[in-house]
Amino acid sequence: MAYTRVGHLKTVDEFTAHLRSLGVDLPVDPAPLSAAEHSPMAQPLEVGDLNVGNRWCIHPMEGWDGTTDGKPTAHTTRRWVNFGRSGAKLIWGGEAYAVQPAGRANPNQLYYSKDNIEPTRALLNALLEAHRERFGANATDDLLVGLQLTHSGRFCRPNDKKKLEPRIAYHHPVLDRKFGIAADDDSVVFTDDEIKRLIDDYITAAKMAQSLGFGFVDVKHCHGYLGHEFLSAYTRPGPFGGDFEGRTRFMRDIVEGINAECPGLMIGVRLSLFDMPPFKPDPSGSVGGKLGPGIPDDHPAAEYPGFGCNRDNPLEPDLTEPVKLLEMMRDELGIAAVNLSAGSPYYNPHIQRPAYFPPSDGYQPPEDPLVGCARQIDIVGQVKQRVPGLPLVGTAYTYFQEYVPHIAQPQVRDDHVDFVGLGRMVLSYPDLPADVLEGNELKTKLICRTFSDCTTAPRNGIISGCYPLDDHYKKAPEAGELKEAKAELRIRLKQQAGT
Ligand SMILES: Cc1cc2nc3c(=O)[nH]c(=O)nc-3n(C[C@H](O)[C@H](O)[C@H](O)COP(=O)(O)O)c2cc1C
Repeated sequence: MAYTRVGHLKTVDEFTAHLRSLGVDLPVDPAPLSAAEHSPMAQPLEVGDLNVGNRWCIHPMEGWDGTTDGKPTAHTTRRWVNFGRSGAKLIWGGEAYAVQPAGRANPNQLYYSKDNIEPTRALLNALLEAHRERFGANATDDLLVGLQLTHSGRFCRPNDKKKLEPRIAYHHPVLDRKFGIAADDDSVVFTDDEIKRLIDDYITAAKMAQSLGFGFVDVKHCHGYLGHEFLSAYTRPGPFGGDFEGRTRFMRDIVEGINAECPGLMIGVRLSLFDMPPFKPDPSGSVGGKLGPGIPDDHPAAEYPGFGCNRDNPLEPDLTEPVKLLEMMRDELGIAAVNLSAGSPYYNPHIQRPAYFPPSDGYQPPEDPLVGCARQIDIVGQVKQRVPGLPLVGTAYTYFQEYVPHIAQPQVRDDHVDFVGLGRMVLSYPDLPADVLEGNELKTKLICRTFSDCTTAPRNGIISGCYPLDDHYKKAPEAGELKEAKAELRIRLKQQAGT
C-alpha cells in the first residue's frame, strides 16, 4: 500500500485535506507564530520548581556510540551539543543511561559506574555550554535537562551487539516466543532480591545525576524495557507483580528511594501509555526486496496482556490503568512531569515511531503513518483532560515533517499537551525549534523523511545517526557498512519471496 508522502503535500491546505481524507481531525494552524508573536510554544511552564522557558522538548535519543566501558564518544557529545542548540527548553533525559552495565541494550550504551561520573559531567556541560553559546549567558536558567535511567530487561545486549542476554520480569507467551526465550527458562527471570538491588542502582545513578547538576531523572517505563515490562507483570508472583499495586511497586520503590536520598531532585517518567501486540511483516507481501506490510503476530488476542491494552481486543487501547497510574504519579509520588510514548520499537514500531520507510527489523506500515501520530496525540489529549495538573510531553510528531509546527501549536494552545517532544527530527534538523521560535523559514532539506536509517544502523551493529541528511554520517565510513547491510537485507527478502 503506497501512502501519500507528506513532503508531496505542498500547502497547509493540501496537508489538512489529506489528514481529513484519513479521518484525522487534528487541528492544523495555518501559520505558526514566532516567540515575538507570542506563540503558545514560547510560553514558559512550571515543572516542579523550575519555570521551563518554552514548550519544545527533545526526546531521549541514544546513538549506540559510547565506548564499551560506558563513556560518551565524540559522536555522543555531538548529539548532546545539538540538543543544547535546538532551542528546546526541556531536554528529556538525553539518552537511555543504564544503571548497571548488565542492563545495557547494546555494548555501546552509556552506563553508571564511578569511572563514568566525570565523563557524564562533561557531556552535560557540553550541552549546557552549547545552549549558552547559542542563546546567551543566562539561557540555561530556564533550561531543564534530565537523565534517563534504564535497565533494558528483555532487550539487554550488554556484550555482543547481536546477542540478546535478556533479564525479564515474567515469562510472556508471545514475546518469549518472538525473542527466543524458552518458556521454562527461569534463569532469566529477575528474583525479588535482584530487583531490590537493582532499585538501589537506580538510586545510586540518581544521586550521581543530582550531583552533576541534572534537573531531573527519568525513571524509564516505556518501549518494552524493564520498567515498562513490570506494568504488565500480571502473572508474576510476589511483591513485584500481580495486581496494580504489585505491578507498580518497581516504580514506586525507585521513586520513593530517590525522593528519600536525593531531596530536591525532580523525577520524571517516560511511559508507554498504551501498547499493542507484536507485529511482523506479512511474508506473502514481501515483494521486490521489500519487507511485507505489518500484521499482528500469530497468537490468540487474549494472550497479549500489554499495559494499556483492551484485553478483549488488544489492538485497542484501554486507558483505565494508565490513568490510574498517572494519578498515582501526580498525587502520591510527586512526579514532576511525564513523557508519554507508546508500544515498543522492537515489536510494534509503527505505533511507537510512525515512519514511511521501515527499519530493517520492521515491516511496511500497516496504516498511514499519520494515523499512528494522530493516535498518540489524541490519546495524550484524553489523558490531559482526565489527569490535569501533571505536565505532559507528547510524542510522535516527527512524521508531520514540515507541518510539525502547524500541529504542535494548537495542541499546546488548546491545552491538549504541555510540551511537544521531537525525536528523529532533531537528528536531521537539530534547531527546528529555534527556527520556529525565531520565525525563520524551515530548512526543508533537513526535514526528517523517516527513512529509519537511524534505527536500521544500530539493528545491524552500526552507530546511529541521520545517514541520509546529516553530512557527519553521510560521509562517515559507517555509511558504507549501512549500505551493505541494507543490500544484504534486500537480497535475503528477494530470496525468501522467490523473486
Ligand atoms: C535512533 C533512536 C534512538 C532512540 N533512543 C531512545 C532512548 O534512548 N530513550 C527513549 O526513551 N526513546 C528513544 N527513542 C525514541 C524517541 O525518543 C521517540 O520516542 C521516537 O523517535 C518517536 O518520536 P519522533 O516521532 O519525534 O521521532 C529513540 C529513537 C530513535 C529513532
